[in-house]
Amino acid sequence: MPKQKKHEKKKFVKKVKKEKAKPRTDALASSTSGKKTYNLLRGMHDVLPREEKYWKNLYHTAENLAEHFQFNRLETPLLEEANLFIRSIGRGTDVVDKEMYVFEDRDGAKVALRPEGTASIVRAYIMHGMWNQPQPTKLWYWGPMFRHERPQAGRFRQHTQVGFETIGDADPVADAELILLAHNFYKDMGLPVEIHINSIGTLEERQKYKTSLVEYYRSKRSYLCDDCKQRLNKNPLRLLDCKQEKCQPIKEDAPQIIDWLEDESKNHFTKVLEYLDELNVPYVLRGTLVRGLDYYTRTVFEVYPQTEGEGGAQSALGGGGRYDLLVEEMGGRPTPAAGFSVGIERAVSALKQYMDANQIKPPAKKFDAFMAQLGEQAKRRSLKILNELRLSGLKIDYNFSKNSLKAQLEAANSLQVPYALILGQKEVQDGTIIIRDMESGVQEIIDQKKTENTLKKKLSRFDEEKKK
Ligand code: HAM
Repeated sequence: MPKQKKHEKKKFVKKVKKEKAKPRTDALASSTSGKKTYNLLRGMHDVLPREEKYWKNLYHTAENLAEHFQFNRLETPLLEEANLFIRSIGRGTDVVDKEMYVFEDRDGAKVALRPEGTASIVRAYIMHGMWNQPQPTKLWYWGPMFRHERPQAGRFRQHTQVGFETIGDADPVADAELILLAHNFYKDMGLPVEIHINSIGTLEERQKYKTSLVEYYRSKRSYLCDDCKQRLNKNPLRLLDCKQEKCQPIKEDAPQIIDWLEDESKNHFTKVLEYLDELNVPYVLRGTLVRGLDYYTRTVFEVYPQTEGEGGAQSALGGGGRYDLLVEEMGGRPTPAAGFSVGIERAVSALKQYMDANQIKPPAKKFDAFMAQLGEQAKRRSLKILNELRLSGLKIDYNFSKNSLKAQLEAANSLQVPYALILGQKEVQDGTIIIRDMESGVQEIIDQKKTENTLKKKLSRFDEEKKK
């Protein structure tokens, strides 16, 4: 190994050791037994069972839309060559410069935990020759992303995204279709949102715009916050993302990229907006929207909770845009593309806030019946009956750790199931089972073999009654 490299490796190992010495967790480990327990790393979070209903709902919403809009699922690994992200997202962006989890693996390869999905999708598109198939190629994904950001509300070091990418279509209708998809996603999950949209033109147009932006900001340098002074040299477009109060008036008067667009980009953007009007998808034109990743060209958009307005850039629920140069940049043929992704943690949290504020109850987990049992023999038989009912498509809850009938019926009550099935010693011997109507308390003894049919009949009558 060359001397220089060896030295670097040593440094890397040293750094890892140093960090190991003081694990950074969100809270101090504690336990009532006095034994050491473990906490989460900073910025990490568990998705608890009580959140599950929201996550499942969102996944189904995404899956349904993907099917409807003809996107195929593509799963890529969490770990990729670090350069894939460095080249696509770009040096000078926060994601690459400050937030990526990059390390050397045991073979000495520089790898990164994916901070986003688009670069990996483009890598896979090129690698698997998807450009050989009829275009566009429409792909979707769902999974964890990693960014070593300063943790705060709605900002995690591991978060989950669902993303949609249309590769091989330059038509503005593809942009509009993706924005429609984003609009439908939030609409289907029941969250009112605002879609902010802008065009950042081609590379050349943006270059000219950057020159005028830098010129303008240089003339105001002494009034800028420290971050913006740095942005001015490193990545001037990020100046438009600044949230500091003192920079807001400067931002408001800054030149707007839309004035630097040539006819082709202007026409492209106008068409996107016309399609959205046609589709009745509301949007807010936002001249300062530029996005935080380098690969975008022309259309860019972001989604915010409806109440938040333009100021809430920290809490964008989702975002995306066109990236016509990325496939070529990654070694493929020149191929136009566009896409977007949604942050699931932020979507769930915004939905919960909205439901709380409007007193909307979360969807209850729906079971068809509760199986209550008394005694060892009944427990065994219940297991068998439960499995048969599950195979027949019925959803039955149960709790084998509760042995008293009263406690089991209470559990059934709190689940708001319409029926309880009760099996005791006598029923096991007689080959019967009791069906209890939970609302009226009326009980009926039936032949065990008829459980599925009787329950299904009662449930369909119950559903009919509910509809009336
Ligand atoms: P992004 O805007 O960097 O875009 O991330 C997409 C969404 O992921 C954000 O709007 C936000 O909801 C969520 N998100 C990002 N970082 C965090 C975090 N630290 N904690 C919680 N949620 C977060 C992209 O990643 C692009 N790949 C989108 C795209 C797809 N563009 C074209 N195709």
